[in-house]
Amino acid sequence: MLDKKDLENLKSKAEKAIKNAQSVFELEKLYRQFLGKKGEVNQCIKMLSKATPEKRKEIGKRINEIKQFLQEILVKKRAFFQQEMIKKALSEERIDITAPGVKVERGHLHPLTLVEQRVEEIFQSMGFSVVLGPEVETEWYNFDALNIPKDHPARDMWDTFWLKGKEPETRKQKAKSERLLLRTHTSPVQIRYMEKHNPPLRIVVPGKCFRHEATDASHEFQFYQVEGLMVEERGKISVANFKAVIQEFVKKFFAGDIKMRLRPSYFPFTEPSFEVDIFWKSTKEWAEVIGAGMVHPKVFKAAGLNPKNWQGFAFGMGLDRLAMLKYNIPDIRLFHSVDLRFLKQF
Ligand code: PHE
Repeated sequence: MLDKKDLENLKSKAEKAIKNAQSVFELEKLYRQFLGKKGEVNQCIKMLSKATPEKRKEIGKRINEIKQFLQEILVKKRAFFQQEMIKKALSEERIDITAPGVKVERGHLHPLTLVEQRVEEIFQSMGFSVVLGPEVETEWYNFDALNIPKDHPARDMWDTFWLKGKEPETRKQKAKSERLLLRTHTSPVQIRYMEKHNPPLRIVVPGKCFRHEATDASHEFQFYQVEGLMVEERGKISVANFKAVIQEFVKKFFAGDIKMRLRPSYFPFTEPSFEVDIFWKSTKEWAEVIGAGMVHPKVFKAAGLNPKNWQGFAFGMGLDRLAMLKYNIPDIRLFHSVDLRFLKQF
């Protein structure tokens, strides 16, 4: 039969065990042993049913007191362990403010972006505006409007990536040929701009171009051009103006020490046409960098302007080539190589 002495024994046994517990884990075990559903305290309560009513009242009260007491010391002990854990974590994870910092690597602009920005800056200083055009073009803007009709041998100058499908209805222009392609040069933007803006005008158009050709040290199937177009009233502009503008550009871009020459050339959309060569010091050779000429009357017509009233010059320069010359880069493929050893030099 359960008596008071047994109860006091249980109390001191449990109290001692809880006080001596070394871990939260041990504490949980003790909880189950003494206070759990099948724990020793509950066993005592069950036994009560067999006691006389007076005894039941007296001992029942004591059991409840003991239960409450044990619960309290267990909660306290658990809080103690938690405190210990926090203290330990804080001391171990303390920030060492004297430790040397980690250097944050800062990115910077790609050499092609730097060159593009510089080119824009120079032309803006001469009154040119920067204009953009689409990379997916129609056959009309890329070729026909620039006086390069289908089956014209000059089309072979631009190996073309043709796209499936046609110009979507919503974007449809009055253009006749709606076959789509990746623009092979920035010249289509000449037409697009003159359709919407009346001369006199001066624009430069930086942008990505694509040609379906094998790559080597000086050719990529994806490259950058900057188109230039200046149109004035007929009789107010000539090749001399073109030469002056380009000379000024080259002087500023290469900071003076560079040789250039104008050489006759052929483009269907200019007449006469030129090639501007720049002397490449490292190879001691002339490099073609800019194609140019006086805007062909047919180009004005295609854009809806009367060639009897207007005259102008246009040019297209290879941005990658300009960058290669300026920074002495031997291979155009380095630009897209994602090689940090290359990129970090700029
Ligand atoms: N579009 C020509 C090319 O890609 C360059 C050019 C532009 C030539 C403007 C003359 C006038 O080669």
